[in-house]
Amino acid sequence: MKIIFATGNEGKMKEIREILADPQVEILSMKEAGITAEIEENGTSFEENAVIKAKAVMELCHEIVLADDSGLEIDYLNKEPGIYSARYMGEDTSYRIKNQNLIDRLEGVPDEERTARFVCVIAAAFPDGEVLTARGTIEGRIGYEEKGENGFGYDPIFYVPEYGCSTAQLSPEVKNQISHRGKALREMKRKLQARKEG
Ligand code: IMP
Repeated sequence: MKIIFATGNEGKMKEIREILADPQVEILSMKEAGITAEIEENGTSFEENAVIKAKAVMELCHEIVLADDSGLEIDYLNKEPGIYSARYMGEDTSYRIKNQNLIDRLEGVPDEERTARFVCVIAAAFPDGEVLTARGTIEGRIGYEEKGENGFGYDPIFYVPEYGCSTAQLSPEVKNQISHRGKALREMKRKLQARKEG
């Protein structure tokens, strides 16, 4: 079985290969499959955006295509930046600036109101028109300053109470085990296996 994952991000591909690992499944990035596509993410939810991406690439190659959409929801900010996480304050603005801006917007907000979660939705589009989705989340709180050097994006301000540190202070192995993307990928793996077994 061949699966194409609609991402250009090598870090994500590594994580995807580790979690979906199956000797009977060949997992290719868009680049490896020779596909180039600029897809407009104009959905209004993580689910819609992931499905838009997976379907658009499936239409181009007629193989099974997986795509993901993810982001950070901060409860005090009405779930901002949400589906706009990558575009928040502009794609080219550094995360140091984006993270400081979010910390500033929560100035004076007490611990219990700083709740937030990372969300990841993976969609699978099949050549026969079927679509599957899987959602994973991790709950945490927005910290008071950036901490940690691992990870990417909003990790330095995402504090996980159970671990007493930010997701940027976790090793990649531990983050994969508890992260929104790890959970969504494992859920998708279960759904793909169930579909295969009919
Ligand atoms: P996507 O690649 O369109 O799904 O972009 C999701 C955006 O959400 C990223 O660019 C980050 O800003 C944020 N994000 C998603 N997952 C994580 C994570 O695990 N750590 C930090 N930021 C994340």
